[in-house]
Amino acid sequence: MSGTPTESDAGSARPDLPAEAPPAPDQGRGQADMFLLAHTGLPREAPGSEATTALLLQLVGALPARPRIVDIGCGTGPATVVLAQLTGGHVTAVDLYKPFLEAAADRATAAGVADQVTILEASMDALPFAPGSADLLWAEGSAYFMGFDAALAAWRPLLAPGGALVLTDAEWLTPDPSPGAQAFWTPGYPAMRTTAANVAAAQQAGWTVQATYVLPDSDWDEYYGPLSARLATLRAEGLPPEQLDQVGEEITIRAAHGNDYAYTAYVLRPRA
Ligand SMILES: C[S@@+](CC[C@H](N)C(=O)[O-])C[C@H]1O[C@@H](n2cnc3c(N)ncnc32)[C@H](O)[C@@H]1O
Repeated sequence: MSGTPTESDAGSARPDLPAEAPPAPDQGRGQADMFLLAHTGLPREAPGSEATTALLLQLVGALPARPRIVDIGCGTGPATVVLAQLTGGHVTAVDLYKPFLEAAADRATAAGVADQVTILEASMDALPFAPGSADLLWAEGSAYFMGFDAALAAWRPLLAPGGALVLTDAEWLTPDPSPGAQAFWTPGYPAMRTTAANVAAAQQAGWTVQATYVLPDSDWDEYYGPLSARLATLRAEGLPPEQLDQVGEEITIRAAHGNDYAYTAYVLRPRA
């Protein structure tokens, strides 16, 4: 999915975000604006954690001394900063949503890694990099905007020899998910598959699947904890509860049907 958000697909483990800031709090707003207001200032926009980013980096293995990294769909930069700190390399943090890019820049400055980070407003389906110019492509919670297969195909030429792609993606843990889980996920991510199907697709497309890793529940808490707190604040400020409930629907769905789906990480290398 890509483009302008609609009220039904503004769920944020699967968001579409417009490039505009939300309206000031005293203005009327549609559901997409409410989504943006609720998501302003969150530390991350998808399940994940510093520990998981570090673990996935370990799973990648050896990289050049100062790897060239692209954080695709970086959001507010939770992975950008960790990657810069742990690798000593250079991270180009790419997103389409300006407020997130500004937050990522502030975060890099606060962490003392601003000189290792370039902030770039660009679309993940038209990344302005030369072929073979990246040692590591990183995409936490963003590849689904293009779709797993399309992302792998579009990004592969950017990798230098020996390079790797790490992404996390929502996927089914069962071939027969509950109607409640399907009703939430399918409209926003109709191509969502199981791990086995994603692994098979990656292998068929010429990738070695070096590792897969199902993100732990605590990584969902890292995302939903701050989101819940933000929704509670907006509720206390008197914003319309029905609209806030709609933003928080993914938290409710997770509580009811979390055994049916996961966020899974993939460490991939192009087969020679
Ligand atoms: C679920 S958020 C994940 C953000 C971040 N990686 C994280 O883990 O917090 C997906 C991100 O992809 C960005 N995005 C959506 N479509 C994009 C596109 N076509 N090109 C670049 N970024 C895009 C959104 O603005 C958002 O920041």
